[in-house]
Amino acid sequence: MAVYKTIMYSVGPGSVLLWMLLWGADCDTQPQAEEVELFSSDKQLTLGWRSEPLNLWNEIKLPFVTGGPVLQACVKRGQRSVLSKWIERRDAHHLLMDISIAQEEESSGELSPLKVHLFDTDNAITRFLNGQTVLDLQNSKLFSNSDPPSSIPKHLNRSLSLNLGPVTRRGFQLAFSYTGECVFIASIRLYYRACPDIVSNLTSFVKTGAHSGPVLGHCVEGAVESSPPVRECDMDGVWRSQQGVCSCERGHEEMDNTCKACRIGYYKSTNGRGKCQLCPPNTRTTKEGSENCECLKGFSRLPSDPHDLGCSKTSKHFRVEEKHPTA
Ligand SMILES: *[C@@H]1O[C@H](CO)[C@@H](O)[C@H](O)[C@H]1NC(C)=O
Ligand SMILES: *[C@@H]1O[C@H](CO)[C@@H](O)[C@H](O)[C@H]1NC(C)=O
Repeated sequence: MAVYKTIMYSVGPGSVLLWMLLWGADCDTQPQAEEVELFSSDKQLTLGWRSEPLNLWNEIKLPFVTGGPVLQACVKRGQRSVLSKWIERRDAHHLLMDISIAQEEESSGELSPLKVHLFDTDNAITRFLNGQTVLDLQNSKLFSNSDPPSSIPKHLNRSLSLNLGPVTRRGFQLAFSYTGECVFIASIRLYYRACPDIVSNLTSFVKTGAHSGPVLGHCVEGAVESSPPVRECDMDGVWRSQQGVCSCERGHEEMDNTCKACRIGYYKSTNGRGKCQLCPPNTRTTKEGSENCECLKGFSRLPSDPHDLGCSKTSKHFRVEEKHPTA
């Protein structure tokens, strides 16, 4: 394996860049699901991850491979692990990983998997602890001892959207362990999907990490809750259908997912789905968003009369029903 050990390059200080990428969802009624990147080795100059035992995992540059440092564990056989730095969880509930690896064939013919471990932790751990294996990765197309380093990129197998499972603490750390002959990890990308900001059914929901559990929405301006509006963001970053209802309050009607105030001359006396109604005979409104219409000057109705009843001419001694409405 000496040939692989000789292709190590020195690397400078790195910086963590967080990127948000759009991810193509096939649902046309909802904005597209988003991917929120938490870590990408391609955007690092150096990883500085901890090898146990020391120096059995190294950072190298591979010929013809662009991007960040490549991790290799080709110095010596036996159990060896590499532990990432602590990464903030942000709004992730479920982690996904894209990864490229190349594995060397084993003389025994039986290939050891590259084990992936996840530590869900509030504070950085400094040493690799056994257990919590979330994935076993195994390539089918292997390189051999006699292949030159320049052929390694051809053996890189890129797997997308591997599920690393739930995370709940302030952050997490990733680790790999290997017992096989020689392995290269060329690219590691950690991210989560998110449901984007959305307004529908007169309710707004803010961007939420996939697999969120129930999230409470807010009624848009002019709307009130009939029952608390709740949605869940599913695994793919797509909002599930809404439970609970927002509807337009008094003096407002629904139009294009907003609540519009009733125009002058119109009224709506109840919360709910209805439309603004034209004021009944001999009544009027003086402002937009009216809940009911008042009688024109010289007309009246009893306080007990329903809102949709018009007003009639006021007489000193008795009320006369208006026969020929003028409105
Ligand atoms: C690529 O990796 C996946 C996941 O480990 C594995 O199932 C698949 O067989 C690999 N493909 C090749 C060509 O090595
Ligand atoms: C939300 O709106 C959609 C169509 O716009 C409708 O099919 C669905 O029933 C509504 N959900 C609620 C809770 O009102």
